[in-house]
Amino acid sequence: MSQTAGKIKRGDLGHVESIRPQERPAARARVHVFHHSLDEDTHLRSIAEADAEELFALVDANRAHLREWLPWVDANTEVTHTRQFIASAVKQNEDELGLTCVIVQGGRIVGIVGYHPINQANKSVEIGYWLSREVVGRGLMTRSCGALIDHAFGVLGLNRVAIPAAVGNARSRAIPERLGFTNEGITREAEWLYDRWVDHVRYSLLAREWVKRAEDGSLR
Ligand SMILES: CC(C)(COP(=O)(O)OP(=O)(O)OC[C@H]1O[C@@H](n2cnc3c(N)ncnc32)[C@H](O)[C@@H]1OP(=O)(O)O)[C@@H](O)C(=O)NCCC(=O)NCCS
Repeated sequence: MSQTAGKIKRGDLGHVESIRPQERPAARARVHVFHHSLDEDTHLRSIAEADAEELFALVDANRAHLREWLPWVDANTEVTHTRQFIASAVKQNEDELGLTCVIVQGGRIVGIVGYHPINQANKSVEIGYWLSREVVGRGLMTRSCGALIDHAFGVLGLNRVAIPAAVGNARSRAIPERLGFTNEGITREAEWLYDRWVDHVRYSLLAREWVKRAEDGSLR
């Protein structure tokens, strides 16, 4: 267990103290150009076509690690597949329906975090993510999710952020739990993972809960 386990400092989560639900923008904000520094060496930025070679190499180097919980790994066998994924993510970003970011540390891509398509009618979104095995265990994904949660509530004016995670994926489940999400229960057989069904735990956080936690300093 790391020294900082379970405790998120308010400053780690960006500008959450400036968010008030009544200040949510009426119009949809542009989401496809995004840049957010996590620290002096690490940032999130919108994915770009030029990332294809580097991203494919990262997936290739992490197949066993990613395959444990992600269903698309075996189908991603050549850089063309990564290009197709990026093209669709870039289009979604441009159409303001999603936001897929690369996590860059020391000048290298080390993971992905993003919104699955934004549901504008219901002002809700789901976050999905993965990290290179070599950077797991440093709080990078918890901080990345914190930044996208701030963006969802503070800039895009959304009301609900959800993070689904396989019941057995303890590392993934720890992220919404650390960030104070509510466990809403199990979606049975939510995902086909190569050779079996996996159940998902549904976690969610509402804008008013995020604001309250920031204000009373109880972000965990
Ligand atoms: C899911 C996944 C992204 C989680 O990665 P992770 O490194 O455990 O998550 P974080 O980057 O938030 O790091 C948390 C760890 O860093 C520690 N940490 C250090 N500094 C921290 C900080 N400032 N804030 C939070 N945690 C911190 C935590 O204590 C925790 O360590 P522990 O597991 O030893 O308790 C990663 O395991 C992964 O990519 N798995 C494969 C793909 C996958 O499962 N994707 C999700 C599908 S739903």
